[in-house]
Amino acid sequence: MNNVTNWQPASDQLVISPGNLHVWRFNFSDCNQIKQLSILSTDERVRAKRLLVPTKQQQFINTRMQLRLLLSRYLTIPPEQINFKYNNYGKPSLKQQHNQPITFNLSHSGSLGVIAIGYDCAVGIDIEEIDAKLNYLQLANRYFSEAEINQLQERTGSEQRDEFYRLWTQKEAIMKMVGTGFSNTKAKEIGDSPISNACTTNFTVAAKYKATAAAAEKLIINYHDLNFGDY
Ligand SMILES: CC(C)(COP(=O)(O)OP(=O)(O)OC[C@H]1O[C@@H](n2cnc3c(N)ncnc32)[C@H](O)[C@@H]1OP(=O)(O)O)[C@@H](O)C(=O)NCCC(=O)NCCS
Repeated sequence: MNNVTNWQPASDQLVISPGNLHVWRFNFSDCNQIKQLSILSTDERVRAKRLLVPTKQQQFINTRMQLRLLLSRYLTIPPEQINFKYNNYGKPSLKQQHNQPITFNLSHSGSLGVIAIGYDCAVGIDIEEIDAKLNYLQLANRYFSEAEINQLQERTGSEQRDEFYRLWTQKEAIMKMVGTGFSNTKAKEIGDSPISNACTTNFTVAAKYKATAAAAEKLIINYHDLNFGDY
């Protein structure tokens, strides 16, 4: 676990170099001040409208605005000019036309979001708010490998729950790095198999949250704050 205590602010213009991974965090309560819906594309606005649960809709809109505003600082183009494409499983990436090596992935849970930015390297990220009521053993039995279940059983109580979330975010970050998400039927093996040659880093975003970043190679990670809300 990377106990990050030093989330840094950053300059307006951003540069990512080969071998590096930038991890950004933001708080939805701070997003409410950003009223730039016009930077979203038509398909993003259509998608937002289809989300009938207000909190889910706000999560989607806020995260897309943050993503666009952040990427525009790396690409030095206006946020509304950024175009995304999607793989068969829904993973977004920059359209070829940008001719940029920048890769990214994002995750949101509870009131927090995280975005990973890489350079010419597949990346995945996952954050989960710890739910004290979640029947995590049921999920573990369905998705975890024998080795992962053994790892869980070495702990009890809240330590076991924490370990579940650590392993879960690790697995999800890897599957998001690969781009299949949980549609990958080999979810159980991820964690033991060669695919986990992926380099994963668990890191602290805030109390009661677990998060992991995954990359196809070992990268130096810098942690940044998108804004300065209370975590
Ligand atoms: C994709 C998936 C991992 C998201 O998990 P989650 O915990 O609900 O959500 P997170 O907040 O961690 O991540 C969501 C973000 O990951 C990205 N994402 C979506 N699909 C992805 C994929 N296949 N791989 C990597 N990243 C993906 C998106 O940016 C998404 O944010 P958005 O909805 O605001 O665009 C999960 O839904 C899944 O495994 N789905 C299976 C793939 C699938 O059936 N997709 C259906 C669409 S074709």
